[in-house]
Parts: sequence; structure tokens; C-alpha cells
Amino acid sequence: MILDSLFKRPRVLPAPHPVPRIVLPAGFVSFVAMMVAKKGGVGKSTLAVNVGVAAACDGLRVLIIDTDLDEDQQNCVKWASRRQQANPKVIRCAIGKTRAAIAWGRKQGFELIIIDTAGRDLVHMSDLAEYADVLLTPGQASSNDLDATVPLRRLWSRTATPAAIVLNGVISEDSNRTRFYWRKFSDLGAILPGVLVRRVEYIDAVARGQGVSEYRPGGPGDIEIRRLLLEAFQHAAEKRESAQ
Ligand SMILES: Nc1ncnc2c1ncn2[C@@H]1O[C@H](COP(=O)(O)OP(=O)(O)OP(=O)(O)O)[C@@H](O)[C@H]1O
Ligand SMILES: [Mg+2]
Repeated sequence: MILDSLFKRPRVLPAPHPVPRIVLPAGFVSFVAMMVAKKGGVGKSTLAVNVGVAAACDGLRVLIIDTDLDEDQQNCVKWASRRQQANPKVIRCAIGKTRAAIAWGRKQGFELIIIDTAGRDLVHMSDLAEYADVLLTPGQASSNDLDATVPLRRLWSRTATPAAIVLNGVISEDSNRTRFYWRKFSDLGAILPGVLVRRVEYIDAVARGQGVSEYRPGGPGDIEIRRLLLEAFQHAAEKRESAQ
């Protein structure tokens, strides 16, 4: 099943950029966002920690579950070890046990629960997908990344959970190349209107155990990451409403 594209073209931020405030969508007491991608290095962990920090900056209690079994690859856990603040809380958990961790997180009152996956274990991801409110798949503007969505689209078709591509690491928000790849992804399924630009602030913030919303509040990275999270909320809320 090919999901309809959310919108017709990528959204370019209007100037001046207001800083959007993160609030959960109406009807959600907690929200589970799962980062899924088969391809490595596409930005799952970058997205996980940055949306987590943006929400935490606005007072939401955030839990990030790092499901990578390989200690060297537990990027969210390592990021948390460089951090002073307790919010977001980061835990490691085998993907097969993540369902129980989500239930624990909800009980503890976490309002945003983010699952960062390793990308290798599509079977467990598929089992877990139905416990998420949205599945987000970062993809970069390349033909390899387009091809890498094939197994993901199979996973999407097996779950009622809304899913969307996040176009990450574009050189320029407003360019023919960005529009070209955004349209290519949108032909394959849902894609969020916002894109994430390749910015040194993502690299530098993560190196300091921060998100861009802490590293450069009100900066372009802070604004685009907030907008993206709100678009993911909206996508999930609309799907939930249309299913009822
Ligand atoms: N928008 C961006 N701007 C600049 N650098 C980025 C951006 N997104 C990701 N990166 C960088 O790309 C690299 C890979 O990102 P990341 O670790 O988030 O990918 P991943 O999908 O989690 O990878 P893995 O499959 O290994 O878990 C990191 O060095 C990260 O800093
Ligand atoms: Mg990662």
C-alpha cells in the first residue's frame, strides 16, 4: 500500500521565523514517535535527540529509548552521558522489550516517548510499530536513500500507525535539488513538509550533549526541528481522526 503524500510540496520557512511552541496534539496524553530506517547514518539519532530536546525545552517530560544492542552504536545513550540535564531521560532497551518500556514510560508520566532504532531488525520494528503513534524515517536527498525506503514501505503497509519520511541533510531548504528529491519521496509515500538542512549546529550540539534548541535557541535548526515535530504530531492526529 502506498500512503498518500501529506502535502504537495516541501515547506519553505517564511521569514521572519517564529519559534513554534511544542504541545502535544489534542487527544494525546502521551505520544510515541519511533525512528525507523533500514539504511544507517540517515539521521535517526540526530532526529531523536533534537526533537526530544525541543519538547523538553517547552516543559514536556521526554523519554528516549535507545534500542541499539551494540554499545559502540548507542548514540543516544552516549549523548546523554555528555549531558547535565535529566530531561530527556535516556534509557537503553532491547527492541524486543521496548513494548514494556513504552508502557513503563507512560506510567511514569513521560509525555513524549522517542524510540531510536538500529535499523537492522525490521521484524522487531514491525512488531513494535503498532505501539507507536508515528513512524519517522529520515532519508537524505540521494537515489540510494530513495531505494532504501522499499523495505520500510513494506513495514508501513503492515501497520495502521501513520508513517512519514523526513528529508534530512539537504544543502539548501529552497533549491531545485531539494524539491526534486522531496517530490520523489512523496511519490513513494507520506513525507513531512518540513526538511532538515545540513547544519554544523546539529553536529556541534550533539557533541556537547545538547539539542539545537539548547545550543542555539531561536536559530534556524531550533525552528526547523520544532516545526517538524509539530508536523509529525499533526500527521498522527489527522490519521487518528480519520480512523475514528
Ligand atoms: N541535518 C544534519 N546536519 C548535519 N549533520 C547531520 C544531520 N543529520 C545527521 N547528521 C550527521 O550524520 C551522521 C549520522 O547521523 P545519525 O547518527 O543521526 O544517523 P543514524 O541514522 O542514527 O545512524 P545509525 O544508523 O548509525 O544509527 C552524524 O554524524 C550526524 O551528526
Ligand atoms: Mg543512530
